[in-house]
Amino acid sequence: MQKVKGTYDVLPNESHKWLFLEKHIHMMMKKHQVDYVRTPVFEYFDVFHRQTEASDMVTKETYDFEDRSGRKMTLRPEGTAGVIRSIVENKLITPNQILKTYYLGANYRYERPQKGRYREFYQTGVEFIGEKNALLDAEIIQIAYEIVHTLGIQEVVVKLNHLGNTDTRLKYQNALKSFLVPLKDQLSEDSKMRLESNPLRILDSKVSSDQAILINAPVLKEFLTDTDQAYFKSVIKILEQYHIPYEIDEKLVRGLDYYSHVVFEIQANIDGFGSQNALGGGGRYDDLVAELGGPNVSGIGFALGLERLIIAAELQGISFEEDELHHVAVLHMDHESKNQAYHIYKKLLNEGIHVTFDFSNKAFKTQLKHALFHQYAYAIIIGKDEIDTNTVQIKNLVTQTQEVVSMKDIMTYLNK
Ligand code: HAM
Repeated sequence: MQKVKGTYDVLPNESHKWLFLEKHIHMMMKKHQVDYVRTPVFEYFDVFHRQTEASDMVTKETYDFEDRSGRKMTLRPEGTAGVIRSIVENKLITPNQILKTYYLGANYRYERPQKGRYREFYQTGVEFIGEKNALLDAEIIQIAYEIVHTLGIQEVVVKLNHLGNTDTRLKYQNALKSFLVPLKDQLSEDSKMRLESNPLRILDSKVSSDQAILINAPVLKEFLTDTDQAYFKSVIKILEQYHIPYEIDEKLVRGLDYYSHVVFEIQANIDGFGSQNALGGGGRYDDLVAELGGPNVSGIGFALGLERLIIAAELQGISFEEDELHHVAVLHMDHESKNQAYHIYKKLLNEGIHVTFDFSNKAFKTQLKHALFHQYAYAIIIGKDEIDTNTVQIKNLVTQTQEVVSMKDIMTYLNK
């Protein structure tokens, strides 16, 4: 038996990275007073396959299936649509209030697997629903950046663009199409197809000949209304005030069709990272909440890819280790002292000490060797003499000094 293509196992020797990262994310969200939500991994097909959502991700990459009663289902390819479905269904949107939620979980996309791209992958994301306001756009971008930055990941930049409103995009799309149709034969196969289905996506084609053609293409910026331009400037001003490194990227359109106005990606320029260098991305959506049956309110959000955060951190030598206060091994000298050693182990465990105990019947010397090998700070040693005198021996494994400590004073000794 083998794992499914595009999936991976988190093994015991690396699981600490995941736990560290998830804890970091929950801490950051708490700091920003964003509330956790958890929605199902599968939803009815229509939640993701909406009329207006014609992105490649939704049309070609979703895992769709029928359940045993013949209902059409989809494994979530992203978090946003399911979270909005839940917010609307549970009537959580109240006028004049911003609803702030975040989520963390697995998503499924039938993509070609490569480094940083999987068929099952984890995202954490935030959605702010309820108002359109440049401060909120800037706040969302800052939270996304801060999560990455506070992990210690360097060499990241926020790429920003403004897609305008629906009308602007339609006008621009027509202009782009008129420009590209006479050059259709020179476009890559993918771009030829997109010319019909989604011309804007041609802008972020990775094929250099497509990019050469686009040099003279009309630019989206020139189609933006004055209001949109002013809004974009306000967002940028706030980012500058808070020293968020950004670059305007007029070709950034993003892969999902629900965006309008401000969109962004956090990209890593780290050596060895490979082509999948977007650590996360997001943007504003004006129509999604209404499309999913909710009131006519705007939202903005982002999602970060957890695998990519781990890859980026590893490439930069970030260890994801917690600072443990004490590493203690409780060792028993003989079989008769094992029970008492176990009691001490349980007591320290309850005190929150990072402690191990040998459940097998290894000889004392082997237990000690093991503690030294794993670079524990202390060994608490217990044998018949210690049980008789209600004491333990505490050996400092770094200095190799040893002291007799009364059983009741173990915690005081370790805290000292
Ligand atoms: P997205 O750009 O499709 O946006 O995904 C966000 C991030 O998820 C990517 O930047 C990447 O780090 C990670 N990711 C995506 N696909 C894969 C994959 N196949 N393997 C590994 N990592 C992957 C969204 O999903 C939007 N829902 C974000 C959003 C929230 N927009 C508004 N609110």
